[in-house]
Amino acid sequence: MLDILTLGDEFLREKTERIKDFGPEIPVLADAMVEAMQGERGIGLAGPQVGVLKRIFVVDLPEEKSARVFINPEILETSQELASYEEGCLSIPGMYANVIRPVYITVQAQDVEGKPFTIKADGLLARVIQHENDHLQGVLFIDRLTEEKREKILKEYEKRGKRKK
Ligand code: NI
Repeated sequence: MLDILTLGDEFLREKTERIKDFGPEIPVLADAMVEAMQGERGIGLAGPQVGVLKRIFVVDLPEEKSARVFINPEILETSQELASYEEGCLSIPGMYANVIRPVYITVQAQDVEGKPFTIKADGLLARVIQHENDHLQGVLFIDRLTEEKREKILKEYEKRGKRKK
């Protein structure tokens, strides 16, 4: 089982590399990521969160039958229309905040076999894709908050961590 890294781990702040070789290890990695995500009841998980500095993330929404895998994703278009919606992150467990993002996106990516696909997404799917895509550049949802809100979350997170010990 893959371990999910949490805030403070430097892997979460690293940039990632494109996947060029679509060998049998890619579906194995994707499956392991889906398993780790579902084990924590998450709806998205990106490579850096499991210490893999590659451009891959997985998404599993409650209303969809199976998890989706995005490899080497590029967000081609984003809507001008923005929305605020509550986000959390398996790497910052227990913390939630409203994040403003475009409502609609067009994203291009490859599947586990390297086959390219393009989708238009809105709603929760668009939201999760943007959150996970951020992870691939070392960006966390707290980076998209005002400094005041970020400080508040970080303080609360630290307090919770101390209580657990
Ligand atoms: Ni996250």
